[in-house]
Amino acid sequence: MTLKSNIDERKLPQHVAIIMDGNGRWAKDRGKFRIFGHQNGVKAVREATEASAELGIKYLTLYAFSTENWNRPQLEVIALMELLVSTIRKETATLMKNNIRLMAIGNMQDLPAKCFKELTAAIEETKNNTRMTLVLALSYSSKWDITKAVKTIAQKVKDGLLEVESITHNTIDEHLSTKDIPSPELMIRTSGEHRISNFLLWELAYSEFYFTDKLWPDFNREDLYEAVLDYQQRERRFGKTSEQINNS
Ligand code: FPP
Repeated sequence: MTLKSNIDERKLPQHVAIIMDGNGRWAKDRGKFRIFGHQNGVKAVREATEASAELGIKYLTLYAFSTENWNRPQLEVIALMELLVSTIRKETATLMKNNIRLMAIGNMQDLPAKCFKELTAAIEETKNNTRMTLVLALSYSSKWDITKAVKTIAQKVKDGLLEVESITHNTIDEHLSTKDIPSPELMIRTSGEHRISNFLLWELAYSEFYFTDKLWPDFNREDLYEAVLDYQQRERRFGKTSEQINNS
């Protein structure tokens, strides 16, 4: 039996989010510059995307660049942005062929003009695709997103468009950049780190976390199957007791 054949199609997570970590260490292990790790990380992006779409997962979110990543050495930032531009340019045809829609969350205004242009063109071109949505978190951090949402809500209250009493957690949901995306049921982080690193803090409230020691460039479709299988063995209680879940 292969790993894939053990996956229960009826219990698939609808949305998987991944913190792709370990590119730098992967390159260092080979005596190479960090960008070599990022370049090899693109192959893993392709594998994870294809495997997710084939399984029937509807949303895949990849943490590609955080707001904190702008503080990395200038050369690495420039090289990463170039890599993003060339990858988006190269892969848009594959996204079209596979009926995959591209979306982005984050502070797009901060991206270099070329990157922003390439990204918005790919988002526009793929917008009617329906098989799966690939969400790139770019210049993204959850604290940035939540702060922006709070400011917009406060402004609406100030302008008399919203009553303080009517604010619920749904109001927050509706003002985040993830407003049209269901919350991830499964969050995967590679490279043996056990941190959330300012990623989807609100949206991951009830997600299952899966950690693997594999460095991101080594992550392949079998690793994704393993994570999904692990997820399927968990009991999601959402604050209730095991008995309540089993009797409902
Ligand atoms: C984290 O590894 C990885 C990143 C900050 C960038 C991820 C980018 C890619 C995989 C390439 C392009 C992606 C797309 C979506 C086209 P790290 O550098 O923090 O590794 P380290 O912890 O070993 O230093």
